[in-house]
Amino acid sequence: MNDLVAKLNNEWQNLTPVEVLSQAVELFGSGLTLASSLGSEDQVLSHMLNKVSDIGDVFVLDTGRLNNETYDVLSNSQKEFSLNYRIFYPESQAIESYVMTHGVNAFYDDVALRKLCCEIRKVKPLQRALSGYKAWITGIRRAQSVTRMSAELVEWDDAYQMIKVNPLVMWSKKQVWTYIKDHKVPYNALHDLGFASIGCAPCTRAIEAGEDERAGRWWWESPEHKECGLHVKGSS
Ligand code: ADX
Ligand code: SF4
Repeated sequence: MNDLVAKLNNEWQNLTPVEVLSQAVELFGSGLTLASSLGSEDQVLSHMLNKVSDIGDVFVLDTGRLNNETYDVLSNSQKEFSLNYRIFYPESQAIESYVMTHGVNAFYDDVALRKLCCEIRKVKPLQRALSGYKAWITGIRRAQSVTRMSAELVEWDDAYQMIKVNPLVMWSKKQVWTYIKDHKVPYNALHDLGFASIGCAPCTRAIEAGEDERAGRWWWESPEHKECGLHVKGSS
């Protein structure tokens, strides 16, 4: 698989994101799915995928703790794009057990309980969302944080044993917003309130000028913890 990853990185490195998506659709067909948090990058990718594919497949992990603004942009996008939106929910018994044992906001108490909540509400549903697919697309960019500086355009995702494509990996935040404005892409109203990254309501806040783009996620934890388990660095 490392050979395929290296070959695709080499062949696609000078393509625009929309060209990368077009190539990925050709290569993986209905085995390709886009992960959307309904944040700015994923809205750009949804708009691009909608242009290049008649069978564009998008999934959203609805943790049950999302902001109203996130549901609004999901609803608008379902109307605007001819994409197949698949929405995944956490397993109800696991949530009930977590909340009754640890408390409804136990993620503030310690990192292990925060990670357990992410595991139940995001990672387990992600496993179902990716099941049967050959490749997934994400909105990861290198400039988002120190933990993402080594992200590649195409990666082998060891955790899910599939190809992962990050078409915006080299893009800046400015490029994302220029695309949104130029193409009138529906976007999450939280961005107008200073949110750089979109996550769960209790675990995400607006950032100050000059702060790291992911500083608003789990802001009470130290930087090395700021991943939820969706993105585990693979072997490529
Ligand atoms: S993360 O810590 O939540 O994984 P971030 O919000 O920066 O990080 O998202 C990175 C990418 O993960 C997004 O561009 C999107 O592809 C995917 N992603 C994040 N949250 C979700 C979600 N709730 N549903 C589907 N995909 C998601
Ligand atoms: Fe739970 Fe917060 Fe993780 Fe959402 S981001 S799954 S509320 S710990």
